[in-house]
Amino acid sequence: MTLAKTLNSYEEHYWDFSNYRNDSPLVRYPAVMVAPMQEVIMKEIIKADNTIHNVLDPFFGSGTVLYEGKRLGLNVVGFDINPLAVLITRVKLEGIPIEKISDSINALNTRITLLNGNVAPYCFTNITKWFNDDVILSLSIIRQAIIAENDELIRRFFWSCFAETVKQFSNTRTSTFKLHIKEEQQIASLVDDSISFFKKHIQDQYSKFINEKQGKRTTTDIRCGDSKELLKTLPLESVDLIYSSPPYGDNHTTVTYGQFSILPLLWIDKTDLSIWNDHLLESFTAIDTASLGGSINSKFDNDSYKEFLNNIIPKKQKKVISFFNDYESVFKLLTAILKPGKLMVLTLGNRHVDSQEIYFDKFNDMLAKKYGLKLDSTITRNIIGKRMPKKVSRVENYGAVNSINKEYVKIYRKVGTYG
Ligand SMILES: C[S@@+](CC[C@H](N)C(=O)[O-])C[C@H]1O[C@@H](n2cnc3c(N)ncnc32)[C@H](O)[C@@H]1O
Repeated sequence: MTLAKTLNSYEEHYWDFSNYRNDSPLVRYPAVMVAPMQEVIMKEIIKADNTIHNVLDPFFGSGTVLYEGKRLGLNVVGFDINPLAVLITRVKLEGIPIEKISDSINALNTRITLLNGNVAPYCFTNITKWFNDDVILSLSIIRQAIIAENDELIRRFFWSCFAETVKQFSNTRTSTFKLHIKEEQQIASLVDDSISFFKKHIQDQYSKFINEKQGKRTTTDIRCGDSKELLKTLPLESVDLIYSSPPYGDNHTTVTYGQFSILPLLWIDKTDLSIWNDHLLESFTAIDTASLGGSINSKFDNDSYKEFLNNIIPKKQKKVISFFNDYESVFKLLTAILKPGKLMVLTLGNRHVDSQEIYFDKFNDMLAKKYGLKLDSTITRNIIGKRMPKKVSRVENYGAVNSINKEYVKIYRKVGTYG
């Protein structure tokens, strides 16, 4: 049976994974893929082609694809522009030294007790806007206690648990991925329980790691930076499988991964972060500006993308065009590094701009045709009970933008050789 037939043989609503919840991740991250769904698809792909040895995700986020790929015995390669995504994914893939971790957690807890009352509050611009004074003191203690850990892998694990703690005790709203301050009353009533939360989170997450089965030895190549640049470093026709969920639009108006991540990033010791650009943490929006379509380039020819712009106003068109243009350059590079006959699997969603649907799925079909890929199959998933703000972003003068409730897994096959 062909891969397309096998995937079509699953009952339609199977792909909804409506009972799936990931309630206690290492660190919450926006727009995370449904891990068991990727596992099923990847398994079917590997079953249909036993010559697949590596997988690439050029936008790995919290590392769902790379984690599943590694568990299935593939060598993994991945890029993300956001240092928080890289931190989380490295911890998930590189793991923690099981023989040392228990002692390190005990030592960390002792240091936290000893440092209590003996640490100067940590500081960065506007810290007192985003955190209450008692929270700043507690987080400063945890921060110092983590810095004193010698093992890099363990330190990264601690930083990840710390990142989740920072998010939990900051004064930002949870109803949006953007940085929006909570109401005064909510801020005043926030109880600082950050040290207990952090210790418990470490304990919960650590049990998951020690219960994990060690699979086949595989290689891991995870890098922080812009895929538009990093993809150029991979040899032509070297990748057996491309598997990703790319951003659906520019980060400023779709999902603000950078703004979501900036507060933990400001707290974590820079030496343990993969900061690929000195200015990345200088403003709350720098990561989103550096992401696909993040800066508007007005010299693009509007005509080539016309049919996908619908009736949105010119000001918004520029943003969509910039995103499309960046996305196309990544798409082209991806098709060049994929081996002939191999697959590119993309999870895609159509967002709305000015209440008009942007057919990103069809845009990808158009690019696939242009760069020598053939559509093998499409899986449609209804997103039920998505843990995501209903309105993902507010665009000046146009109100909030609806989030997505359907996604498509498009499986394209490269026909012929590049060029
Ligand atoms: C939809 S998310 C990926 C989510 C991931 N599949 C998961 O399960 O967590 C898209 C990712 O693309 C990243 N991104 C945006 N522009 C990028 C660029 N130019 N280069 C690399 N990564 C980029 C964002 O930081 C974000 O983490």
